[in-house]
Amino acid sequence: MIIELIGKLHPVLVHLPIGIFLIAIAMEFIGRTKRFSHLQMSIEFILIIGVITGAFSLITGYLLSLDGSNDSDSVNLHKWVAIASILMFAAYYFFRKHVIHKKTIQTVALILLLIMITLTGHLGGSLTHGEGYLTAAFDKKDDKSEIASVAKFEKIEDAKLYEDVVLHTITEKCVQCHGANRQKGMLRLDGKERMLKGGKNGDVIDLKNPENSEILKRLLLELNDDHHMPPKDKNQLSEDELVILTWWLRNGAEFDKKIALYNKDQKIEKALNTFHQKIKSETKIEVIREKIAAIPPSTLSKLEKSGWVISPLSSKDNYVRVVGFNLEVPLNSALEGLKQIKSNIVELKFSFKKISDSNILVLKDFKNLEKLWLDHTMITDKSLKLMNEFQKLTYLNVSHTAVTSKGIEQLNPNSMIKKIYAYNTGIQKTELTTMSKRMPQTSFFTASDSMDVVPSDTLFVKK
Ligand code: HEC
Repeated sequence: MIIELIGKLHPVLVHLPIGIFLIAIAMEFIGRTKRFSHLQMSIEFILIIGVITGAFSLITGYLLSLDGSNDSDSVNLHKWVAIASILMFAAYYFFRKHVIHKKTIQTVALILLLIMITLTGHLGGSLTHGEGYLTAAFDKKDDKSEIASVAKFEKIEDAKLYEDVVLHTITEKCVQCHGANRQKGMLRLDGKERMLKGGKNGDVIDLKNPENSEILKRLLLELNDDHHMPPKDKNQLSEDELVILTWWLRNGAEFDKKIALYNKDQKIEKALNTFHQKIKSETKIEVIREKIAAIPPSTLSKLEKSGWVISPLSSKDNYVRVVGFNLEVPLNSALEGLKQIKSNIVELKFSFKKISDSNILVLKDFKNLEKLWLDHTMITDKSLKLMNEFQKLTYLNVSHTAVTSKGIEQLNPNSMIKKIYAYNTGIQKTELTTMSKRMPQTSFFTASDSMDVVPSDTLFVKK
């Protein structure tokens, strides 16, 4: 836990030595002029600070690398270049007196140091942002992911197996690491061409002998195997998704064929139907919201005076998002006040430290809630039972609370909740697999791995 925490400091901390070393190099050059020659006096001090903060960055970087979420080759390269950079700066510190009057040698040394620090930073950045993120702006080719589109078919038979089904699963479960942002194992899976291009170790789909495909092997490996995909602690494929993906691969990984043209046994039929149900439920919620009366202006202004920020979600209906940060009235009466507009509220965010299980009981009748933020509150597992009251809930955030997997177990396994954010809770990485198995429709975001690309859940509020 502590180790993870310290490791997470790395992406922030590294900017210190980089900045400090750059200043030292700049001062060396500027200090050569008469006007700024006094700068020379501070350079050694700055170099020491650079080396010390550099050493801290190395330690935090090492701790961060322990979570194994990055390609170990790239991590190693970054690590050794970083160590070499810091040693070179330390060496420069010790030999500075000897080179200071040999301008050419000093210039060469400084340029070398500049290259090293840039390279270290770039390699580190590529780990966080994906390979070639610096050069991405110059790439002419269209970098957009081909991702699954909204279902265009009525009957599952009319769907295309790759485009409408397989790609959907890959988008959900693989593209976070094998897409535009990150290319683990130098592999992208967000589109036909990219998939066929293969990864670090060559082709991942063997069109001549599908059974031999690297992807298939990886999906079928034991969960504990290091090469299993998705990696152990990440959101796994559901039973049905696995059935469909392996079926597609074994049938030659065709990219244009309609499902109607395949032979299907019962197991496949079942998996396809489950998939179809899931797609349907995903699209349904977006469109159908019942007509509802607008909030009377007097009520609105009273609630806003008490500190709630209320904003309409669309101009077509009268549903609102409510956010509370600085309430002007005591917590309980503020919450009671919301009851007047309970049917209008579809998104609710109140992340006060003081909120406890008993406070949120008032939400029981808020039947239209679709998104609920309870992060940074004192709620416990007890409150999760209440979530089953909200038939339309698709998003729940309980990050930074005392919630554990016991609480999650109380959720209805068929609930509509698509995303549960649970960073920094009592939920262990190891419990993730069981949780996803029980609630295949739900994605959990629990890893404390700061480099993970997670869909943003930030909500900005104008004050
Ligand atoms: C959390 C990140 C993550 C997710 C999600 C993920 N992978 Fe990977 N994948 C990796 C890493 C890291 C490697 C490189 C290490 C290795 O070879 O095991 C890799 C390597 C691979 C490779 C081998 C590429 C090569 O040429 O060496 C294949 C194939 C693969 N993944 C398929 C998948 C599939 C299919 C999914 C989705 C079902 C998936 N991955 C989801 C992280 C991920």
